[in-house]
Amino acid sequence: MVKICCIGAGYVGGPTMAVIAMKCPEIEVVVVDIFEPRILAWNSDHLPIYEPGLEDVVKQCRGKNLFFSKDVEKHVAEADIVFVSVNTPTKTQGLGAGKAADLTYWESAARMIADVSKSDKIVVEKSTVPVKTAEAIEKILTHNSRGINFQILSNPEFLAEGTAIQDLFNPDRVLIGGRESPEGQKAIEALKDVYAHWVPVERILCTNLWSAELSKLAANAFLAQRISSVNAMSALCEATGADVSQVSHAIGKDTRIGPKFLNASVGFGGSCFQKDILNLVYICECNGLPEVANYWKQVVKVNEYQKTRFVNRVVSSMFNTVSGKKIAIFGFAFKKDTGDTRETPAIGVCQGLLGDKAMLSIYDPQVPQEQIQRDLSMHKSELDKPPHLRAVSPIAVEQVSCVWDAYEATKGAHGICILTEWDEFKTLDYQKIYDDMQKPAFVFDGRNVVDVDQLRQIGFIVYSIGKPL
Ligand code: NAD
Ligand code: UGA
Repeated sequence: MVKICCIGAGYVGGPTMAVIAMKCPEIEVVVVDIFEPRILAWNSDHLPIYEPGLEDVVKQCRGKNLFFSKDVEKHVAEADIVFVSVNTPTKTQGLGAGKAADLTYWESAARMIADVSKSDKIVVEKSTVPVKTAEAIEKILTHNSRGINFQILSNPEFLAEGTAIQDLFNPDRVLIGGRESPEGQKAIEALKDVYAHWVPVERILCTNLWSAELSKLAANAFLAQRISSVNAMSALCEATGADVSQVSHAIGKDTRIGPKFLNASVGFGGSCFQKDILNLVYICECNGLPEVANYWKQVVKVNEYQKTRFVNRVVSSMFNTVSGKKIAIFGFAFKKDTGDTRETPAIGVCQGLLGDKAMLSIYDPQVPQEQIQRDLSMHKSELDKPPHLRAVSPIAVEQVSCVWDAYEATKGAHGICILTEWDEFKTLDYQKIYDDMQKPAFVFDGRNVVDVDQLRQIGFIVYSIGKPL
């Protein structure tokens, strides 16, 4: 029986391993983490992350061939294949601060693997890491190996939150990079066999290590670049009277461009796009490629610009001040169908409005109040760390209240900002909402989800991203 151990029970480790366990009943999969509350939650009825379909998969396998444990060393020692899926946030201090990936968690996991291993292992990079990380990890492992043979593979993960289970069941591709030596190729085959339980073999791509590592950063950079491109167009649409949805539709019909990932928004969020692009920028700079670095840096700059532009629009539309005005915030997660708030554009927008002394009433169907309060009282450098590793600063947030109902959030409000595209925001009773609001009542739709004509008919003043006013 093959034994798999995954270090890191987060958004990637948990769902990925649950799906491997489900699809490979003869493989024992143990997910380990040093953060005990997370392990307790994985073993409870309230999983630590919200992801459609995840609960069913976990319930089906947990206790059979899927286990969650805090006994990290024991399970790593027993495994044949060790996935490392720890967080790799942006460095906040020292060389490369603000750009380079912080590999502290990765390195400590690698050292621990070397320390506890008594048998040969395949070590799989699941975390997103800078290109050439495998070389560093190999050095750590082989210099501490005491004769044990380690093969390093790069197997980056391409799932998106909110659709993780769907993406894992039916991936566009699985990418496995390894050494070109016979041992490296054998390790690739072993991992390929795991995925081949449910992924058609022609979708399992095998490359060298560096191509696999770089492809992950490149994929995220290309995806984020599409969003910044369409968001840049949205500003031009507003200035010219063009409608960004019509422009996206028109350009997306070109099969070379394609229709996906062209939704203009208040900006992209999530734990990875920004961090991975900054990481790419840093690698380019370190390799003496400043022009390439600057090209990618611009994707992040446009994203910041889009959030600032949104805040400025809210304040300027509401007669240049939001001081003391109640503003309802619809959605705080970085996208729908997740409770994750890492790098959510809602943080920047809310902090911008709070800076102008607005009173915020925030409603998100999945994000708890404590999380929102913590995010808004946090210094930016802390935000890309996992929640339990963040230092909370004592900034007061009396201007913020969190409610569990969109109607409650809007009572007596002057304006509504839609910051996450939750489906329920499309079908709210906007007449009822309008009746309970101060007049004029504003809607700032940062996700282009509402029916603008219908809301204008009710009496709202509506601002949508990239659409005529
Ligand atoms: P996460 O913060 O949710 O989970 C990481 C977990 O690793 C944490 O629970 C932490 O306690 C644990 N950990 C850290 N050091 C450890 C150690 N030494 N031993 C045991 N456990 C340890 O992170 P995530 O969102 O799952 O992301 C993990 C990696 O996958 C990152 O590199 C990220 O860039 C990449 N990735 C994330 C996504 C996503 O959608 N979130 C998608 C693709 C790739
Ligand atoms: C993204 C990638 O899509 C995954 O392939 C990748 O594995 C993952 O990052 C990662 O490496 O972490 P994720 O961040 O979970 O996944 O979610 P996306 O669907 O990519 O959305 C990211 C952000 O872009 C969200 O804030 C979303 O609202 C925004 N977005 C997305 C837009 O503003 N417009 C779009 O057209 C699409």
